[in-house]
Amino acid sequence: MELICPLCGCALSIGEGSAVCEKRHSFDIARQGYLNLLPVQQKHSLNPGDTRQQVLARREFLEGGFYSPIVDALIAAAKEERAFGPVLDAGCGEGYYSTRLANALGAPLTGIDISKEAVRCAAAKYKQAQWLCATAAHLPVADGSVGLLTSLFAVTLPEEFHRVLVPNGLFLQVLAAEDHLLGLKSVIYPELKHKAKDSVPQLPGFSLTRSIPIRFSFTVEGQQVQNLLSMTPHAHRITKEGARRLAETPVLTDTASCILNIYRPTVEI
Ligand SMILES: C[S@@+](CC[C@H](N)C(=O)[O-])C[C@H]1O[C@@H](n2cnc3c(N)ncnc32)[C@H](O)[C@@H]1O
Ligand SMILES: [Zn+2]
Repeated sequence: MELICPLCGCALSIGEGSAVCEKRHSFDIARQGYLNLLPVQQKHSLNPGDTRQQVLARREFLEGGFYSPIVDALIAAAKEERAFGPVLDAGCGEGYYSTRLANALGAPLTGIDISKEAVRCAAAKYKQAQWLCATAAHLPVADGSVGLLTSLFAVTLPEEFHRVLVPNGLFLQVLAAEDHLLGLKSVIYPELKHKAKDSVPQLPGFSLTRSIPIRFSFTVEGQQVQNLLSMTPHAHRITKEGARRLAETPVLTDTASCILNIYRPTVEI
């Protein structure tokens, strides 16, 4: 995939330990194999994005295979839509879904995440892909250089996504549905408040081809109960009382409920 400098937008050439643009802006390739393309100007905090603890919990949970139906749905949809690479995963986390998707398509993969810990973890395991610490708000990727773009439980920035996609490219988005993880919520909250959620957003510059619901049940035990919590926004909202109730839950059966939205870029934006 053709990378561009996050500071000036010129083409980046990748050398031994760094990437350099025509204007001599230089970016380090970390020892762990990821490229840091997040300048301080594009950071809104010292260590933006998921923490190491969240990344490791997500890896342990996903490696448990509980969410494999989501991978299956992504691969099936991408094949039905005749998706082609290169694949760019925005907000890739530790890389579980997009490495499997890109492998199934035989396409090259670039994953970007604003969290250094996430791309460090991805690079340590999945050596064949390219991992970038960068923000989805300013993708360090040339116009029209992506065949398949994914955003899985992550941010969607339609204007930027439209810019990097080829005109006949594809955007796959996975969002949690309203009834996602009601089992976990009913343990940690005294009462469940209904919060309306737009799981099929209208995106400027894109037309929705179809929406596929993904619903399945799974059972977690022991540490995987805590790992599941760490993957959700509830980890930031949970009260002491809720945390105590969850700690006393050795086994949890729950239902994952997500929506896979398939978008095509339109000519107008
Ligand atoms: C809920 S996690 C999902 C990770 C991965 N897609 C998965 O499903 O396993 C959201 C991810 O988005 C990242 N993130 C948040 N804001 C971002 C931004 N502006 N640009 C890129 N990544 C971002 C976080 O660091 C985190 O890894
Ligand atoms: Zn530059």
